Amino acid sequence: MERTSETKPVTIVAIGAGNRTNKYLEYAIRNPDRLKLVGVAELNDIRRHAVASKFGLKPEECFADYERFFENPVPADAILIGTPENMHFEPCMKAIEAGYNVLLEKPIAQSLPECCRIAEAARRKGVIVGVCHVLRYHPYFIKIKEIVDSGQLGEIISISHLAAVGLDRTTHGFVRGMWRREEITNPMLISKCCHDIDFLLWLTEARCRKLSSFGSLRWFRAENAPKGSTPRCIDCPLEKECPYSAVDLYYNRRDWISNFDVPEGATLDEVILRQLRTGDYGRCVFRCDNDVVDHQIVSMEMENDVTISFSMDAFTLGDQRETHIRLTHGEIDGDERILRVRRFRGGEEQVYDFSGILGKPFHAGADLNLVEDFVDTISRREHRFRTSIGKSVESHRICFEAERSRLSGQTVILDQTR
Ligand SMILES: NC(=O)c1ccc[n+]([C@@H]2O[C@H](COP(=O)([O-])OP(=O)(O)OC[C@H]3O[C@@H](n4cnc5c(N)ncnc54)[C@H](O)[C@@H]3O)[C@@H](O)[C@H]2O)c1
Repeated sequence: MERTSETKPVTIVAIGAGNRTNKYLEYAIRNPDRLKLVGVAELNDIRRHAVASKFGLKPEECFADYERFFENPVPADAILIGTPENMHFEPCMKAIEAGYNVLLEKPIAQSLPECCRIAEAARRKGVIVGVCHVLRYHPYFIKIKEIVDSGQLGEIISISHLAAVGLDRTTHGFVRGMWRREEITNPMLISKCCHDIDFLLWLTEARCRKLSSFGSLRWFRAENAPKGSTPRCIDCPLEKECPYSAVDLYYNRRDWISNFDVPEGATLDEVILRQLRTGDYGRCVFRCDNDVVDHQIVSMEMENDVTISFSMDAFTLGDQRETHIRLTHGEIDGDERILRVRRFRGGEEQVYDFSGILGKPFHAGADLNLVEDFVDTISRREHRFRTSIGKSVESHRICFEAERSRLSGQTVILDQTR
């Protein structure tokens, strides 16, 4: 394929240099001829300096926050936005208005009108806004899509899909951490599962006609704190038996510690112990200021009459996705490890084993494939990013409408004229 800038790498500025941004920037490290980081805006000094030194950025290419960057912008083809979701809308709009293409972490923004405004601004300015729906780049989910699209099993009639968020991810992110309060980030369905809804729309290639949703914050509430428990796990006499212990998660098992920054001269042990003694992540799960749900279901009827039942669950040990697709001539059943494909008549059951890539870095390579697709979209005139901003807004619309249904107890009929 012809490239418009074959000899030059695509240039990008990172806004927010935390966990996700560093995953995507790995592509630039592995493919310096295709992607070059030319600036960074990051509040946290340790993270900003780490990225600056990894990519050899000059002081004038480094900014303490995105506002400083937009006051004095560095020329580039694109901006990668990896800030927390309450800081997506503003930098994204500024980037679009300044004529940058944008690779935007999900969710797009904190309300449906904001999502629509981003899509409209991108259309008006003629820039690309690619939303990081990584499932579309993951070998297991691509295989499901290929089988459905091949037509070998006929047409989809119904789908059951489960997003097992898992206990550790839930207590870390949605009880103690960044995504614990709707007003700070978003309702959990939007923060965590806009990916799943995007995947379901991708599979069915249809829009949703009607939906209803139920769910609540059932367990991680003050009234469920066991008698004798204390505000911090590190002091708690019940810690040794508690399945939600922060001491066990961070100190014993060393899980979910990648966003604990270790300043120069300090050790990881000291940082973890400081969190356990005084930080948000040392708090008892029954005594946090969390308000997002810990379980939610959504039922959908699509415009092609396909029905979908979707469940988002915290109370599981695993954190995999399970999907059962029932089609007119067979069924597909998978849990991210094994994918089984059965025809109702004729043919052997086909089994695909993905257990070898489960838990592999960069979402089994999906993060890097996504960046590559974005780079191709910028550098090759005829290449299209796998998801349009319009499609991403559609999956977000369903999440926001599901929230409306959950809070009102009503079925929501989606506007078919949209
Ligand atoms: N696509 C996925 O699979 C996936 C997975 C996890 C998280 N996410 C999304 O990625 C986004 C970032 O999540 P994360 O886990 O990387 O968070 P993070 O906290 O590790 O990184 C966010 C960074 O933004 C920086 N920041 C905050 N305000 C800023 C400002 N005004 N200017 C510049 N930098 C600022 C923070 O200091 C932090 O380093 C969120 O929207 C999250 O929902 C996506």
